[in-house]
Amino acid sequence: MAANLQVLLDNRPTGKVSPANFRTVETAAPAPGPGQVLVRHQFLSLDPYMRGRLSDAKSYAAPQEVGAVMGGGTVGIVEASNDPRFKAGDAVVGMGGWQRYGSSDGRDLRVIDAKAIPIQAYLGPLGMPGVTAWYGLNKIIAPKGGETVVVSAATGAVGSVVGQLATLAGARAVGIAGGPEKRAYAVQELGYAVCVDHKSPHFADEMKAALPNGVDGLFENVGGEPFAQAMRRLNTFSRVAICGLIASYEGAPTALPDMRVFLVKRFKMEGFIVSDHMDLWPQAIGELAGHAAAGRLKWRETIRDGLENAPQALVDLLHGGNFGKMLIRIN
Ligand SMILES: NC(=O)c1ccc[n+]([C@@H]2O[C@H](COP(=O)([O-])OP(=O)(O)OC[C@H]3O[C@@H](n4cnc5c(N)ncnc54)[C@H](OP(=O)(O)O)[C@@H]3O)[C@@H](O)[C@H]2O)c1
Repeated sequence: MAANLQVLLDNRPTGKVSPANFRTVETAAPAPGPGQVLVRHQFLSLDPYMRGRLSDAKSYAAPQEVGAVMGGGTVGIVEASNDPRFKAGDAVVGMGGWQRYGSSDGRDLRVIDAKAIPIQAYLGPLGMPGVTAWYGLNKIIAPKGGETVVVSAATGAVGSVVGQLATLAGARAVGIAGGPEKRAYAVQELGYAVCVDHKSPHFADEMKAALPNGVDGLFENVGGEPFAQAMRRLNTFSRVAICGLIASYEGAPTALPDMRVFLVKRFKMEGFIVSDHMDLWPQAIGELAGHAAAGRLKWRETIRDGLENAPQALVDLLHGGNFGKMLIRIN
């Protein structure tokens, strides 16, 4: 029986999350029961939402159970199957968790084509982050040609797709990212008209210079100062998609806009959770796959090797230590 390396939540963080909140164990890989599928995982997705689940505070998703295998998106190869929808050798995407092998009733699994596109793209631009970008941009911001769309965490898994889709829609995409390397990549590779460094001492002035025509659409991934600066430049009838507020996931307070601005600017602000819109995933993934196949969609990845390094990689993701989609390669 093959060994199954698993990472469990050992204890809930009281302040910032650290690797000491997790425990790695080795068990025997499960044999698939009747109707079950056994998948050997190749990549694990690390995502900011995981931080929220480490807490037992009420949220849109149930908390991660202490002592249980950490939940998370995975891609891998079917090793054995007692479900006629899957056969050994199929590439699949699912929610297999922080472990080398996952066995399930197949409800969370989807067969994917990993020949033309690297398998881990189904955890990034052709997966949950890509659909998140597609939904928030198309269904909330709905940019018109010539409008200005601001995207925070502009080079990240979600933001990189938002910026490219906004540009393809004829909008002027303005990114916000941390540091000169991310900023250059945003403009040179992702096609942002300009990208502002939120770590610059002149951030407010640089935002002003980058937005001569104000903001028609704001795709918010971060909160904090980037959000405050973009909000300050909203145009009348603009749209704000609240996708994430990563700057506050480790406890920093979220800044609320002065209510008067809603009235004066007559803008729309809408929060969303991509899993509420499962009916739209096939359309979104189809369109994103079309862009990828035509070379219109670029992405980058930060890949760490070994499941035992997943806790530190999550800590790093929550503090901007990734450049593109954060992944664990499971060997
Ligand atoms: N609503 C939904 O359904 C949904 C679904 C997926 C993701 N999300 C949200 O979308 C956002 C982006 O997720 P992602 O998976 O694409 O992550 P990501 O952007 O690949 O990685 C997170 C990035 O946030 C940036 N960041 C800016 N300020 C930060 C701060 N104060 N602390 C930590 N990080 C900061 C960092 O980029 P810089 O170095 O450029 O600052 C970091 O690389 C997150 O808020 C996430 O929760 C929402």
